[in-house]
Amino acid sequence: MSLHYLPFKLFDILLFAFLLLISGTLTAQAHNNPEFKNELLKSVNIEPLSSSGSEEFTVALPKDLIRVVWSIDSADKDNIVFSVKSGDKIIAEDIKNGAETLPNILTDNKFMIVNVKGTETTFKLDVLARLIVKKEKKSADTDAFLAGRKVYRKANCVGCHKWHGSGGGGYGGAALSLRTTGLDKEGLKYLIRCGRPSTGMPYHGRKAYKGDDTSCYNTTAEKLGKNIPPRARSLLSERQLNVVVDYVENVVQGSGEITLEQCVVYWGEKSRQCDEFRNN
Ligand code: HEC
Repeated sequence: MSLHYLPFKLFDILLFAFLLLISGTLTAQAHNNPEFKNELLKSVNIEPLSSSGSEEFTVALPKDLIRVVWSIDSADKDNIVFSVKSGDKIIAEDIKNGAETLPNILTDNKFMIVNVKGTETTFKLDVLARLIVKKEKKSADTDAFLAGRKVYRKANCVGCHKWHGSGGGGYGGAALSLRTTGLDKEGLKYLIRCGRPSTGMPYHGRKAYKGDDTSCYNTTAEKLGKNIPPRARSLLSERQLNVVVDYVENVVQGSGEITLEQCVVYWGEKSRQCDEFRNN
């Protein structure tokens, strides 16, 4: 190799390394944010001039529903406002095109669209379900899994959110599902570090609410008073916080329905904990 050729090669290598680095960061980011998709639950025709609004309808709710999205198909869609009624109750008001509501307003009951304003012509309303896109799980990285599970157990996430992360009732209210959480990496870390005031979600950060520390919600323990989140059974180091966030992101979030396979991965092949899934 001639000497003046060398720097050129070196430049190539550096460029290649740089590109590799960038593409690595970009794909990592793409993986870290949860992705969502909208799925049509129901199309209803609404006649604003009829006194009853829409006909009664039911929707089949998918399990991993995160939000209900209301999408109006009409030339007047930017002006239209309506309410949703179930039985005798108005369960949502001032719904506009593109509005999102929490899933818990919908049940297996019948619904009606009422109090339609902003148009005089019949239009179509699509009721959509926002779902979290099931992620391709990293399967091979056993070390990260084991490290994550260790913190998940030690910090007793498992006590409230259960091994599968779906949560449920217990001390301090219902623990939300980590399988369907919409939080991204930063949101998860913040929440686990700081807990959630006025709920049973404990704080796990060592400095959180300590003395006049304001790194959580820009407030102090003193100002929060009795609304301060409970202190976790064991506080976590920065490294442990990252480990458990990775675990939630890579193993739990967006993992669909609970399966025997996931159970065996968590508890081990011989555990009786998974018997209930075997009998089905
Ligand atoms: C003592 C019970 C308890 C423990 C222990 C606990 N959580 Fe929670 N967690 C809750 C409750 C209750 C909520 C719901 C708070 C609310 O109502 O907003 C929650 C909410 C969350 C949320 C928010 C989900 C969302 O979409 O808003 C995340 C993320 C979370 N917990 C992760 C964890 C992790 C990770 C651990 C372990 C490091 C943990 N939790 C330990 C009870 C607990």
